[in-house]
This record gives sequence, C-alpha cells and structure tokens, in this order.
Amino acid sequence: MKQTTAPRTFRVKSFGCQMNVYDGERMGEMLSARGIVPAPEGEEADLVVLNTCHIREKAAEKVYSDIGRLTKAGRAAGKEPLIAVAGCVAQAEGEEIMARSPAVSMVVGPQAYHRLPEMLDRAVQGERATDTDMPAIAKFAALPERRTSPPAAFLTVQEGCDKFCTYCVVPYTRGAEISRPYSDLVTEAHKLVDGGAKEITLLGQNVSAWSGEDAKGRAVGLAGLIRDLAEIDGLARIRYTTSHPADMDDDLIAAHGEIDKLMPFLHLPVQAGSDRVLKAMNRSHTAESYLKLLDRFRAARPDLALSGDFIVGFPGETEAEFEETVALVDAVGYAQAFSFKYSPRPGTPAATMDGQVAKEVMDDRLQRLQSALNRDQLAFNRARSGQRCQVLVERRGKRAGQWLGKSPWLQSVWFEADCQIGDLVEVELGEAGPNSLEGRVLAPARA
Ligand code: SAH
Ligand code: SF4
Ligand code: F3S
Repeated sequence: MKQTTAPRTFRVKSFGCQMNVYDGERMGEMLSARGIVPAPEGEEADLVVLNTCHIREKAAEKVYSDIGRLTKAGRAAGKEPLIAVAGCVAQAEGEEIMARSPAVSMVVGPQAYHRLPEMLDRAVQGERATDTDMPAIAKFAALPERRTSPPAAFLTVQEGCDKFCTYCVVPYTRGAEISRPYSDLVTEAHKLVDGGAKEITLLGQNVSAWSGEDAKGRAVGLAGLIRDLAEIDGLARIRYTTSHPADMDDDLIAAHGEIDKLMPFLHLPVQAGSDRVLKAMNRSHTAESYLKLLDRFRAARPDLALSGDFIVGFPGETEAEFEETVALVDAVGYAQAFSFKYSPRPGTPAATMDGQVAKEVMDDRLQRLQSALNRDQLAFNRARSGQRCQVLVERRGKRAGQWLGKSPWLQSVWFEADCQIGDLVEVELGEAGPNSLEGRVLAPARA
C-alpha cells in the first residue's frame, strides 16, 4: 500500500445492531477529535469506516461488495479512500479481509476500536494493520468525551454474551459478558443529557445481565441502575435492549410498574415456540416459561408493548414445530418484532447440525410468520389510536411543518406542529398504519 495524505473527511457506515450504531458514533467522535470532519452528504470521504455485522451471511457479505464499490468510485474520482473495516466481521474474519481485499488498510475489532487513530497514522504511512484484541473495558476509558447527543441517545452498559445459543456468532465476535462500572455509566448519562439527550436507551447484547456497585458500594442490577438514572433532571425517558429471558429478575419487573421514566416497551427475544427447537438452540427457557414471564411484566405494566426476535428454519425444525412459533405469536400479540431465516454461521454448533432446512421452506415459513406479526403490529397501533401520549421529536418529516417522533410504545408518530428536534409534544394518536401513526398535537411540552 502506498503512502497517502492524511484524510480530511470521514464517513462511518454502521450495519447490524444498535450497539454497532453506538460504536459507530464513538468512532466518529474519535475522528472528529483529531480534526477529521464528516464528509458532506453526496461527497466521497477520504476515510471510510465500514462498521460491519456478522450475524447472518447476507450481512457479512455486504462488506466485500461495499469495499468493491468504494474502490471503484475512488478510482473514478482519481483518489481511492482509506478503508477501515470495523465491527463483528472484522473480529471474525480480519485475516481473511486483509488477504482478500488489498484496498483495506485497517481492520479493527469491536473491543479495539479506540486504537483506530493510531492505526490511521500508520495507514497514512502505507502500513496495513489488524487489531482484534479483546481487552475488557479498556476501550471505553480511552474514548474522548461526548459533547452533543441526539434526543434519543444510546449508552452501552454491557457487552458480550455468555449464552452461546447454538446458532449465534455474538459470543465469539463480542467476547464474554462484561458490565461497565456504575460510576462511568452515571457520568456518561449526565454527559448525554447535558449534550441534549432526552431519552437514553441502555444497550447490551444481554443488557439485563448488567451488574455493578452503586455509589454506596451496594450490589445493583439493571433495575437499580435504571432507578438511579431516572433521578437525572432533564432525562425524560429510559429504555433498555436486548434482554435474555433467563436474566429478567423481580426487581426489573417491578421497575416497569414503579418508574415513570421507564418506557412501557420490552424487547424480549424468544426465537421459537417449540420446546424441542428451543433446547437445540440452547435457549434455556421454554415457550411456557417465556409466556409466564411476559404475564408478570404485563401485570406490573398493563400497557406494555412487547417485541421479540424469531428465527425460522433452525436445523431440524418441522412444520408442526414451526406452527408452535405461530401459536406463540398468536398468544402474545406483539407490538413489533424482528424475524429471520436461519443462517448457518461458521464455527457455531448449529451450522453442522443435521436437518438443515431448504431455502424455499424457510421462505414460506418466514412469510407466514411475518403476516401474523404484521397483523398484530397493525392491531397494536390501531388499539392506541384515540389515546393521548407524549412524543419525542426526533426528526423532520418529508413535508414542510411535518415532524417524526416516537411514542412511549416506540411507535413512529407523524404530526404537524411548531416544534423542534428534542421537544416532547403532547399528541392524540389518530389514524394507524402498520408502521406508523398520525398524531394531532395538543400542546408542545418543551422539556
Ligand atoms: N443478544 C440479543 C441479540 C442477538 S442478535 C439476543 O439474544 O436477543 C439479534 C437476533 O438475530 C437474534 O435474537 C436472532 O433472532 C437473530 N440471529 C442470531 N443469529 C442468527 C442466525 N445464525 N441466523 C438467523 N438469525 C439469527
Ligand atoms: Fe446470541 Fe443468544 Fe447471546 Fe443473544 S443470547 S447474543 S442470540 S448467543
Ligand atoms: Fe451484528 Fe455484531 Fe451486533 S454480529 S448484531 S453487529 S453484535
């Protein structure tokens, strides 16, 4: 690789989960702190960070097509960008990326991206470098302070996963479960609020496994952290995602009934409705234990909106077992959900299991599952119409005077008002579609 001039502009492209979005924002802040500015819309950047996701094959393949596109566009413009590959594909396939794509000069894993500036200096000198070390927590301490935040901000509190579901790469790409210290999180939450955040979503691959010691040295879990963050003036809303059914404790359930700032929304993936499939997935819960858990959450917070993740076509899944998933969906009535075709991932136990399901069968099952989920999502939205609630304004709509925000139940709400991003406005929910609702503004409530 040849020597090049130091980049003036950058672009970070994040794929995958919200934690990648958080990481992407932090990498952007690091580059900005070095005087590199975000590339203007529509312009090629001097430095492109592809912050990748390895969860399914399609997601992972994207990185190679993106590298190809960037190199081609760069050649046409007479200057190829510096390319860094970050995120979970970097962690899983770092060496392969370096071998396959000479245009890539930096490969940096999700636990090592605080070293990106250093790697960049070397890349400018023409050196290629890979860093996929997994030092626990070092990254957060090494990141620059945050100055401005969006109204709905993310805060990573926990990372990694020890659950080893048999289909999943996350325990390998993100490493073992670690909790960030309580005091760091309280400090970062205050900074986010000072920078303009009204809502904070606490993030973790397994966020309800977070544990720490509070300011008085007492052991606290996620509910304790939420209780303390709820004391921050100016913070109006708290959410958390993603949880595993095995780590939901009584305190967290109670918190949903007691803390007004904790929004009535719970994303609790179940994956499948058949106990045999759940066992083969190593999920450590049954369909019944999951449903009972949801009952307890709903008893604490009756208007709770539920969300889940589903996989169809796990190896060995029969038609009857798939129908158990649909029956579970019918029983729950989700407000929203994510559903996927099983994708065999290299190195995971499920990839070599007998009974891999044919693509056409998976297509058919996914379509049937999604029509049940879409039906329930529309029903949930319609059931809210006529209700009053606050909407956090997140961005402008397509038409002049139109705005888009989120309801407490994480629904997208469109409305016309004289307001600005970050306002909390009081609306009456009107006509409901599958993906959004219209709102009529009752009063702007400048928070
Ligand atoms: N820690 C979270 C998120 C994991 S990844 C959790 O446990 O819920 C998000 C979702 O991707 C998973 O819930 C699962 O539904 C899906 N997923 C993970 N691995 C997959 C695979 N190999 N094929 C298809 N979907 C997968
Ligand atoms: Fe993956 Fe399971 Fe961990 Fe979620 S709980 S990240 S699905 S191994
Ligand atoms: Fe993807 Fe890694 Fe998140 S694999 S879903 S980016 S943890």
